[in-house]
Amino acid sequence: MQVRRIVLAKRPTGMPEESDFRIETLELPALAEGQVLLETMYVSVDPYMRGRMAGLAEPAPPYNIGDVITGSVIARVVDSREGSLSVGDLVHAGYGWQTGAVAKGGTLQLVETGSLPASAALGVLGSTGLTGYCGMTQVGRPKPGETVVVSGAAGAVGSVAGQVARLAGARVVGIASTDQKCSLLVGRMGFDAALNYNASDFPDALRAACPQGVDVYFDNVGGPVSNTVLPLIAHGARIAVCGQMSQYNLEQLETTPAIPTLLLNRGAVMEGVQLMNYRAIYPEARAQLAEWTARGDLHYEETLIEGFHRIVEAFQMLFKGGNIGKLLVRISE
Ligand SMILES: NC(=O)c1ccc[n+]([C@@H]2O[C@H](COP(=O)([O-])OP(=O)(O)OC[C@H]3O[C@@H](n4cnc5c(N)ncnc54)[C@H](OP(=O)(O)O)[C@@H]3O)[C@@H](O)[C@H]2O)c1
Repeated sequence: MQVRRIVLAKRPTGMPEESDFRIETLELPALAEGQVLLETMYVSVDPYMRGRMAGLAEPAPPYNIGDVITGSVIARVVDSREGSLSVGDLVHAGYGWQTGAVAKGGTLQLVETGSLPASAALGVLGSTGLTGYCGMTQVGRPKPGETVVVSGAAGAVGSVAGQVARLAGARVVGIASTDQKCSLLVGRMGFDAALNYNASDFPDALRAACPQGVDVYFDNVGGPVSNTVLPLIAHGARIAVCGQMSQYNLEQLETTPAIPTLLLNRGAVMEGVQLMNYRAIYPEARAQLAEWTARGDLHYEETLIEGFHRIVEAFQMLFKGGNIGKLLVRISE
């Protein structure tokens, strides 16, 4: 069987372009004992891939030039020489931007999403949902009545993080790029307020939405949005630094030198969220997210892009704000 895959042709400068990648066709080998043949259904595009494309060593190892862009996929078993997996099983694999693959059975996890669609294994029940849950419960630690601000609030991680805080009894204020995203945050996800950071009155509106200050800031974007939020942190605030979307395409990172003084003056803490640190609570987190979602207490969204040829376009959408909730590319039904 032949498959297509997307490899890194050169390291992107600024926004990744189609010309930074190359599509290759690959003949898969015949199955050996213990292997399965997989057909890709959904490919995940994720911000951390940008650092790997740039050749950065953290938080994940870099892609070399010529490497396939590895990452999470959901695939269907179409042939099996592995006793524990049958044709038709859906699995979670890590081979990335490729239409299919041969994989060892032991490297795959069966998709278990209960009443939710299989794609949820890459979203609310996958690493983005887990990051929102673990980052908010372990680093943000919101208490009832506290004010929690979430940037990148309409995205995959932010939408879960904000709702986890709401379910903990906090007042939640989301920040996003459009009025449409803000309406969804309040109307469907139960945020108490949502603010468009492109509106000219954004700083005043944020101050008005947080009259007692910000007890928890869950930050996915950094840059100018964070420069507006951080001066409002309350005494004893927790700042969960989950991501810095505004910085990933920059050659020179923006710096905010006033932060140490701010932390000192307000007795606040700032902590980086590293999902891997919370492995011990993944089962509890997945079970809780599944229960809330099935009960309708947690609303999740997906943006589905159709077709292997649109993977790079989908990846760019992360940086253009083109997605609501988890951004996925559907390769086959
Ligand atoms: N620490 C961890 O373990 C971990 C794990 C997973 C993800 N993350 C981080 O979590 C964050 C969200 O990831 P995700 O997968 O859920 O992506 P996402 O939020 O679904 O998509 C990215 C969003 O970022 C916003 N954005 C893009 N460029 C921006 C800019 N210059 N300024 C402000 N906002 C910008 C856009 O929303 P708007 O339209 O609202 O601007 C876009 O929809 C990322 O920073 C990612 O690196 C961290």
